[in-house]
Amino acid sequence: MKILLTGGAGYIGSHTFVALRDAGFEPVVLDNFSNSHPAVLERLERITGLPVMLERGDVLDTPWVEAVLRRHQPVGVVHFAGDKAVGESVAQPLKYFHNNIGGAVSLMRAMTAVHADGSAPAAPTLVFSSSATVYGDPASVPITEDFPRSHTNPYGHSKLVIEDMLTAVRTADPVWRVGTLRYFNPVGAHPSGLIGEDPADIPNNLMPFVAQVAVGQRPYLNVYGNDYATLDGTGVRDYIHVVDLAAGHVAALQALLGRGESFTVNLGTGRGNSVLEVVKAFETASGRPVPYQFAPRRAGDVAQCYANATLAKKLLDWEAQHTLDQMCADSWRWQSANPNGYRG
Ligand code: WQD
Repeated sequence: MKILLTGGAGYIGSHTFVALRDAGFEPVVLDNFSNSHPAVLERLERITGLPVMLERGDVLDTPWVEAVLRRHQPVGVVHFAGDKAVGESVAQPLKYFHNNIGGAVSLMRAMTAVHADGSAPAAPTLVFSSSATVYGDPASVPITEDFPRSHTNPYGHSKLVIEDMLTAVRTADPVWRVGTLRYFNPVGAHPSGLIGEDPADIPNNLMPFVAQVAVGQRPYLNVYGNDYATLDGTGVRDYIHVVDLAAGHVAALQALLGRGESFTVNLGTGRGNSVLEVVKAFETASGRPVPYQFAPRRAGDVAQCYANATLAKKLLDWEAQHTLDQMCADSWRWQSANPNGYRG
């Protein structure tokens, strides 16, 4: 059974590709490589021992997406394609609304067209890559799926709007089967060290920045704020291993293709770790020092954000397996073997 992965050459997409292959699916990568590197395809072939089916193009090109759907007749689609840098979204809101919201509209219009003439093998089946950022600044932690949603930046706003679009499409046509997955903080890499997170320039996120300090590419880490009401004053997040996250996508597709009911679930570990705990774990995993200095809080940051992950366990029989130490060890293996990511 084929599964179309929009943005399948990206960080989460490439790891989900491997998990789908391992589960017996035939994943097809749709990507324009605007935020990913073609070299990942060769890495995926080395990991899976199988050729990668690639459709190179833009999810905004609706007629082309429709042609791809007709060509491959996937039983499901996972929509990863989109931009995801919070800071950039504040500076370039229209890029985010166009690419993220426009891309989701384009994909769903193509899926609707293909299903309209009855030529598709199954009901429209879509897994959407959402984000814990739709919870804004939570009133408390851990966070359950029924918490109020809000947005503090155009990136998070785009995710929230797409969630609402999915609800509207399902209301209009209940045959749609939709799994909305709210990621917490994806980190780590495939244990082979062949694929991993490859930020385009200075990493916005903590783990890739820490990894670059450990490998000697950056002199020190700025810890954004040490006066939060947390155990050590630094920000607390729910870091989840990308391999666990990928397994969550397989479980979501299996649920949609099986029972068929739609759902929205948190994909997190249910545990929070502070910035300083991550730094310490990475030093242990890498055997390298990670010098840091305290800096002012970063605009838009919240003190704590971590999941109540029980609903995903109940609905998908899925739960995160990897520890923070494993996340750091796998991240270090990728970073030290690929100090320049896929750019060699
Ligand atoms: C984690 C913690 C920072 C960098 C964002 C998006 C979310 C998702 C993941 C896309 C915070 C601190 C960070 C640094 C630091 N993105 N930090 N120094 O902000 O929780 O989530 O990325 O899907 O949608 O909102 O992740 O890794 O940027 O920050 O001290 O150089 O590390 O203050 O406490 P965040 P992050």
